[in-house]
Amino acid sequence: CSLQPYNTFGIMARAETLVHVRSVKDVQELRAFPPLASQPLFILGGGSNVVLTGDVQGVVVKVEIPGRRLVAETSDAWIVEVGAGENWHDTVAWTLAQGWPGLENLALIPGTVGAAPVQNIGAYGVELQDRFDSLDAIDLATGELFSLDAAQCGFGYRDSVFKHPPVETAEPGRPAWGMGLAGRAVITQVRFRLPKAWKPELGYLELERCAQEAGTGEPTAQQIFDWVCDIRRAKLPDPAVIGNAGSFFKNPTVTPEQCQDIIARDPKIVHYALPDGRIKLAAGWLIDACGWKGKTVGKAAVYEKQALVLVNRGHGTDSVTGGEVMTLAKAIQTSVYERFGIRLEPEPVVV
Ligand code: EPU
Repeated sequence: CSLQPYNTFGIMARAETLVHVRSVKDVQELRAFPPLASQPLFILGGGSNVVLTGDVQGVVVKVEIPGRRLVAETSDAWIVEVGAGENWHDTVAWTLAQGWPGLENLALIPGTVGAAPVQNIGAYGVELQDRFDSLDAIDLATGELFSLDAAQCGFGYRDSVFKHPPVETAEPGRPAWGMGLAGRAVITQVRFRLPKAWKPELGYLELERCAQEAGTGEPTAQQIFDWVCDIRRAKLPDPAVIGNAGSFFKNPTVTPEQCQDIIARDPKIVHYALPDGRIKLAAGWLIDACGWKGKTVGKAAVYEKQALVLVNRGHGTDSVTGGEVMTLAKAIQTSVYERFGIRLEPEPVVV
């Protein structure tokens, strides 16, 4: 089966077997089905954060579990449960339409709800972990359904236990919570905690500017949603038109001393102080400063409006290959390292 329709980069790759799962039972049956049970599984959500560098051996599991509902309302929050297969952006819009604000800064992020905790998606001052309650997942080793709270998910910057390989515990067959669940669990439901005491999150320069231009008064969640959509549309390519996987590298952090060193040579470098004292650098700025904007390797290119995004300049059967994307990525890493002494780390999962 072709995986081209199932990855937002539009890379041509094939899966030996592709299985669509629409319920917890589907996943459990898949695990128990003898011809497939022994094969390696690769879990795919919206395919918006993967680079396929070749055909995928074994079974690709496309998670399409539907459903959105309010599961609890407390005096201070709404708890909303969403199936892993639901589209992320549609879910954000739906929560706002129900009168439950809180996810508006995360509008227009491509992908599914089940994929959101995997990399703790974040944008414009809000991360998934800030609105997260808990999730359900199936342990592929045992078929058991289990729940994880935020602490057990081990969220970090674009990181969680779902991005790390499992570490075996003394207890055979049990995953070591907090020590890696990649390839070991399928997320089936995600619950969000949306506080009733809502306040706008405007701690991001471009959003603050939108609020100032809009005039007096506190903006509504719907206004923030619309501004975030406008900002993203202006500088990020729509994967439905130009294949891409969002930011290709994480924003690196350095010590204040390292930052001073770079500022001495490049006074314009974009940097932000983090609460822990380290300094975050804008990877897009570093790549841009090395002159990569608009450059291509085969059909892989650096997006001309945002250097942090690599795009597919091909279409259909003439598409970019994962190899071309990785060649371009490595050339960028080398030049950023040579100029700034900083190693950029890819953000998507490279398969
Ligand atoms: N910049 C440049 N040149 C460029 C790109 C950026 O000089 O080509 C500068 C910008 O002027 C800005 C700074 O770098 O001062 C940061 O750029 P931007 O505000 O666009 O944000 P980012 O750091 O590039 C991060 C996330 C995005 C998220 C935005 C908004 C990561 C890896 N990326 O991008 O997330 O939407 O902030 O919060 O953290 C994603 O993860 O796929 C993603 C798109």
